[in-house]
Amino acid sequence: MKVAVSFLKSDNYVNCIKRINKSKADFIHVDVCDGKYVEGKNFTPKLLNKTLKVAKKKLDVHLMVNNPIDYINEILYYDIETITVHLSIPNLKESINYINSLGLKVGIAINPKQDIRMIDNFLDVVDQILIMSVNPGKGGQSFIPKVLDKIDYLNKIKNKYHFTISVDGGINDESISYLKDKNIDLIVSGSFITSSDDFNKQIKILKDSI
Ligand code: DX5
Ligand code: ZN
Repeated sequence: MKVAVSFLKSDNYVNCIKRINKSKADFIHVDVCDGKYVEGKNFTPKLLNKTLKVAKKKLDVHLMVNNPIDYINEILYYDIETITVHLSIPNLKESINYINSLGLKVGIAINPKQDIRMIDNFLDVVDQILIMSVNPGKGGQSFIPKVLDKIDYLNKIKNKYHFTISVDGGINDESISYLKDKNIDLIVSGSFITSSDDFNKQIKILKDSI
């Protein structure tokens, strides 16, 4: 299991990214909020480009935005592993095709209240399914155990497709126990790691718990 670290809840994005660079995190999880798809706004496309200049690890980009292409065009030349968009955005198909055309992995995120069966139409094209275990938009929220049903559903069908399973939101040394034996490929954790002085210690706690 891999760990991506989110800097969304940190006070200083650039400093936090520099600390993630030095840690044993597998990826930097880049949360982008546009003030439209989610209430808060943390980046314009240009500011996103500028902020990521300090990043030295592969990026796991999570776009909580209505128009992913505006943001993607600004970060094309970064070292990106996956770009994740949300199931319920207006131009989902166009966004998926665009990410594909760039040769990048396509992630699709599903919110706690959404029916997992909405993903069925995209199972052939999706590389990473991001199960949101909090409502999107803010770091530091509590893990919602009900989303575990979605993971069970995905595990039942996983061998017919090529997607990996990722879980994002509220993951700490306690809630991680919900994910034991759930066959998770990637967990995303923010405040549990970035509020600590020792990122590697926190990452190890999560990795050792699964
Ligand atoms: C929620 C974000 C998550 C979140 C993770 O909108 O997508 O990536 O910030 O941070 P924690 O671990 O603090 O919930
Ligand atoms: Zn995220």
